[in-house]
Amino acid sequence: MSHFPSSSICFIVIISILVSNSTLLCNGGKTSVYVRKAEKSVEMPLHSDVFQAPSGYNAPQQVHITQGDHVGKAVIVSWVTEDEPGSNTVVYWRENSKEKKKAMGNVYTYKFYNYTSGFIHHCTIRNLEYDTKYYYVVGDRNSMRKFWFTTPPQVGPDVPYTFGIMGDLGQTYASNITLTHYENNPEKGQAVLFVGDLSYADNHPNHDNVRWDTWARFVERSAAYQPWIWTAGNHEIDFAPEIGETKPFKPYTHRYHVPYRASQSTAPFWYSIKRASAYIIVLSSYSAYGKYTPQNQWLEQELPKVNRSETPWLIVLTHSPWYNSYNYHYMEGETMRVMYEPWFVEHKVDIVLSGHVHAYERSERVSNIAYNIMNGECRPVKDLSAPVYITIGDGGNIEGLANNMTEPQPEYSAYREASFGHAIFDIKNRTHARYSWHRNHDGYAVEADSMWFFNRFWHPVDESSQ
Ligand SMILES: [Fe+2]
Repeated sequence: MSHFPSSSICFIVIISILVSNSTLLCNGGKTSVYVRKAEKSVEMPLHSDVFQAPSGYNAPQQVHITQGDHVGKAVIVSWVTEDEPGSNTVVYWRENSKEKKKAMGNVYTYKFYNYTSGFIHHCTIRNLEYDTKYYYVVGDRNSMRKFWFTTPPQVGPDVPYTFGIMGDLGQTYASNITLTHYENNPEKGQAVLFVGDLSYADNHPNHDNVRWDTWARFVERSAAYQPWIWTAGNHEIDFAPEIGETKPFKPYTHRYHVPYRASQSTAPFWYSIKRASAYIIVLSSYSAYGKYTPQNQWLEQELPKVNRSETPWLIVLTHSPWYNSYNYHYMEGETMRVMYEPWFVEHKVDIVLSGHVHAYERSERVSNIAYNIMNGECRPVKDLSAPVYITIGDGGNIEGLANNMTEPQPEYSAYREASFGHAIFDIKNRTHARYSWHRNHDGYAVEADSMWFFNRFWHPVDESSQ
């Protein structure tokens, strides 16, 4: 028998609900009151097991794959050999098939100050069948290594597909937790949308490019088995005139090839792919984007090409966020926003994913495109044709957490939290996709933020009213 009167129980229940809903209501959306314990972000030491090179003479290491064409029927396989160039060939075959095929790649090396790279191989496998598991082998008689991947389903409007989302990953203990949580998430990501800032090698003296190698060995356990779609961040620039390194993006462009020519791009920093029911546009915050520049001209021609009857979901990746209410990198994305936001609204982009700020934030559907030099209208307003902006630079790199927010929370900011984590964008059909963000501290099974996305072309209903 209870010793509490029923009114007291009711009160306790209400208080419990308020406490368990660990957010504060502010001017804008929600600022999570979850406080991650302040810990120094420490890189895993070079001898860590996650960095170990495979055994065997000249064994292929740093294996990673990405989409190799515009529609998902090709894969770029990349790897590094340290002792000699070795074989350029990828041998591959369909699951349950005995017919083995070969593709020939190219090998590259580069120098960066006092560092000389290993032999970097890139090989594009073409004419793959959709929705099929393939095995592939790299290396030669000395040491072969075998991996596998599954090609996406044929491009089409109602094809379910699940993307993982990570950014600013680095190679700390926290980075390892983020990647592990992504791998263990029961909602299995089939490809990773990576929003830039990979290794943070440039935080080391002379941009110690050994840290580019260790990073690629660290992520191999995922990136060799599913494509990571790459975006260039500021830590990919590696511009260091003080040591004679004046060619921006040198390590990144040697190590990470993307299929930019397939979308008529003229540089690997901006490009597009179709994958299942998604059209993904990758932009470069660190390449010229003003009027008349190659990126501007490309994007202007690119957006009208997106056929939402074929690929309903229009996703944009860019490193520097346009809507960011943290006191870090504040307004760094502003000039690009001014240039491109009207186009994103016109073409009804569903979601814009960015990194750079080492925390998490999700916006309302807002736009800020009414301004001209006469009217002074420069406030974000609710706009159902606008994308949702997600900042997810919370992979857990060496620079630590961004935990200083602008106050009060702006109205356009729906949810923000200074934690590390990853996200999942799970497309169900042409109208619905379920998005969830998973903070590290809670383990992979606990999501701290989620939202049902309604497609802007097929079902442009206000999600916030649901
Ligand atoms: Fe960044």
